[in-house]
Amino acid sequence: MIRAQDIHKAFGPKRVLTGVSFEVARGESLVVIGGSGTGKSVLLKCLLGLESPDRGEVMIAGLTRPRPHELAAHVGMLFQGAALFDSLPVWQNVAFRLMRGPARMARAPAREAALEKLARVGMAPESADLYPAELSGGMQKRVGLARAIAGEPPILFFDEPTAGLDPILAAVINALIREIVTEMGATAVTITHDMRTLRDVADRVAMLHEGRLYWQGTAAEALASDDPVLTQFIQGRIDGPIPTLR
Ligand SMILES: Nc1ncnc2c1ncn2[C@@H]1O[C@H](COP(=O)(O)OP(=O)(O)OP(=O)(O)O)[C@@H](O)[C@H]1O
Ligand SMILES: [Mg+2]
Repeated sequence: MIRAQDIHKAFGPKRVLTGVSFEVARGESLVVIGGSGTGKSVLLKCLLGLESPDRGEVMIAGLTRPRPHELAAHVGMLFQGAALFDSLPVWQNVAFRLMRGPARMARAPAREAALEKLARVGMAPESADLYPAELSGGMQKRVGLARAIAGEPPILFFDEPTAGLDPILAAVINALIREIVTEMGATAVTITHDMRTLRDVADRVAMLHEGRLYWQGTAAEALASDDPVLTQFIQGRIDGPIPTLR
C-alpha cells in the first residue's frame, strides 16, 4: 500500500532525510519512532505530498508521486498539532470530508456520523457544537483523530496520536487504532514517542536516526533489543550514542 524509496529531503544546508526506504503492506501497522527533530513529521509530509522529496519515490495506493487531492479518498491523517479548522465547530471539522468530499453527505447524516466518530475517541456529544479554541489540547487531538477516521479511509497516518492525552485516554486511542487496523483492514503508519503505542499498535517498528531508518523489527524485538541506539531511546537514558542537544 505504501512504498518509500530512497527519500532525501533537506531544508537549506540541513539534511533531514538522507535515504529512507520502506514498505507497508495492506493491513499492516508500522510504528515509526525516533528522536525529536529527526524528520518523522517531514517523512509523513513527503508521503502525503505536502513536502516534495529532493530525491526518491513515494508510491501510495498505486499512485506514484501522489498529490494531496489525489490522496484524499485513500488517506486519513492526524497532524501532530491536530490542525483543526478554527472557524468550524467540532462536528463540522470531523464531518468535513464527508460533506465536502465526493460523498457530498447531507448535513443531518454527516452530523450523525461525526457524533459516532467522536464517541469512539471518547468525546461527549455536547462537544460537537464547541469550537476548537474552546477545547483542551487533548480534546483537540481526539477531534483530529475522529476527523482522520471519519471517511473510513484504507490508509491512515497518525502523527503522535497519544501526545497530550492522559494515560487512560491514550490506552483508548491505542486500542482504537489497533481495532481500525484489525477490523477494517486499514494500513497505518503511526509516529510516536509513546512506548505503549509501540507495544499496542505496531506490527512492525522502524526507528529513524541520522536521516535513515536505522532499525526495523517487531515491537517485541524492539523492546528486547540490546542495540545501543534503540535501547537508549526506548529506555529514555541520557547517556548513550544519541546526543541530547538537538
Ligand atoms: N518547512 C521546514 N523548513 C525548514 N526546516 C524544516 C521544515 N520542516 C521541518 N524542518 C526541520 O526538519 C527537521 C525535522 O523536523 P520534523 O518536524 O520532521 O521532526 P520530528 O522528527 O517530527 O520531531 P518531533 O518528534 O519533535 O515531532 C527539524 O530540524 C526541523 O527544523
Ligand atoms: Mg514531529
